[in-house]
Amino acid sequence: MSLKLPPSLMLIFYVVLSLCSIYAVSGYKDVDDPAIRTMEEFSGYPFDETHSNTQSLSVDAENLQKQIDELATFSDTPAPSVTRVLYTEKDVIARRYIKNIMGLAGLSVREDAVGNIFGRWEGYEPDLAPVASGSHIDAIPYSGKYDGVVGVLGAIEAINVLRRSGFKPKRSLEIIMFTSEEPTRFGISCLGSRLMAGSEMLLKALETTVDNQNISFIDAARSAGYAQEENDLRSVFLKKGSYAAFVELHIEQGPLLEEEGISVGIVTAIAAPASIKVDFKGGGGHAGAVLMPHRNDAGLAAAELALAVEKHVFDSGSIDTVGTVGILDLHPRAINSIPSKSHLEIDTRDIDEERRNKVIEKIHESAVSIAKKRGVRLAEFNIINQDPPALSDVSIIEAMKSASKELNLTHKLMISRAYHDSLFMARVSPMGMIFIPCFKGYSHRPEEFSLIEDISNGVKVLALTLAQLSLK
Ligand SMILES: *[C@@H]1O[C@H](CO)[C@@H](O)[C@H](O)[C@H]1NC(C)=O
Ligand SMILES: *[C@@H]1O[C@H](CO)[C@@H](O)[C@H](O)[C@H]1NC(C)=O
Ligand SMILES: [Zn+2]
Repeated sequence: MSLKLPPSLMLIFYVVLSLCSIYAVSGYKDVDDPAIRTMEEFSGYPFDETHSNTQSLSVDAENLQKQIDELATFSDTPAPSVTRVLYTEKDVIARRYIKNIMGLAGLSVREDAVGNIFGRWEGYEPDLAPVASGSHIDAIPYSGKYDGVVGVLGAIEAINVLRRSGFKPKRSLEIIMFTSEEPTRFGISCLGSRLMAGSEMLLKALETTVDNQNISFIDAARSAGYAQEENDLRSVFLKKGSYAAFVELHIEQGPLLEEEGISVGIVTAIAAPASIKVDFKGGGGHAGAVLMPHRNDAGLAAAELALAVEKHVFDSGSIDTVGTVGILDLHPRAINSIPSKSHLEIDTRDIDEERRNKVIEKIHESAVSIAKKRGVRLAEFNIINQDPPALSDVSIIEAMKSASKELNLTHKLMISRAYHDSLFMARVSPMGMIFIPCFKGYSHRPEEFSLIEDISNGVKVLALTLAQLSLK
């Protein structure tokens, strides 16, 4: 599917955009700008002074902020919160908005069967594997406007920065907007990138996946204009090596960069997440009539397992191992009734896959022994996903470092403890991530905030990194 706008509307957009950028960059000429020097080195062309009034390297920060603000208005909850759930009306409008901006940046736009959106700037050696960047724009209920969005709109702006500089990519550059990074609607995180990475398990699961309104994934996708053909979800799979590199720009979602006053985080690894669903079934009964020795309390089994999760995580001996019981439901949930059923959802992560898997084994052993001890039935112990961690590619780390240095920006190497689409892109492409500071590390809440100066720094680092990788 490609971008379709009436030509007249397109023209108006274009003129408005051109005027804005001329306004924003007029008078800009700084031959000592390290970015310009770098561009000259990378592109092999001198930076053309006759174009320097309209073709600046500077990020059009004002326009980028405007786009971030506009995108935030496509929300199902009032500002400052943002709620944008997969394949809802607001999600579809937001997708159209992104496709328009890609079109205005001169990218050729296409979409796959689940709505991953690709915008390509063709390089002068178009047969080489492209270099890609991107992130997501879906937003969990009552969250903020920067998570993911900075890595989509920022990447498109990085393309604009490179174009204005006169840079010519050798490998094509591609911007990707991933479908459903957040698990809100179908309980599957990184749905688009996971499928691109060729997950057979996900492909199978999507045939039967429904949301909490019993709307199937396929029907929801069709209502948004995707998955039109029978069985075409497999076409989303990418071959290993489809991209020469993938780089994602993202807010840190943690406090370190802001606290330490550092401009750029260079991610060396993404922690490996796993999630487990557990159900215990017990005898239930009247809270007064059933005496303590005769109980099979499914609620206490759940409570005991939650403490066991914490214990096994601590016993791993590593600060990088974490485990959380974020959901613990009891049935029938009445003060005078012994819980007859309990349901837990456990999230555990580590940068070391083996260590995390050992923790999962121990949690399983505990679930079995707790059930036995308490005379309840372990009705379900379902490992929903158990993903490997991802390491950033060394040459991409080097490219991000040298870009930061060229721009005279402070940087630090760090681990991403949240996961991102990059975790899955790492299965088909060398990968790297750039973090920027965000206010107090807040994320997934309306107070999420990043200074436009920090975003612009991230965009510049991304632009230079993409430029370097494109010429490799
Ligand atoms: C969900 O929809 C399917 C197919 O339309 C139907 O067979 C099933 O009974 C529904 N389940 C519930 C809980 O409504
Ligand atoms: C780089 O940054 C440092 C510290 O902010 C500053 O002192 C120095 O002048 C900058 N150098 C250049 C070339 O911009
Ligand atoms: Zn995100």
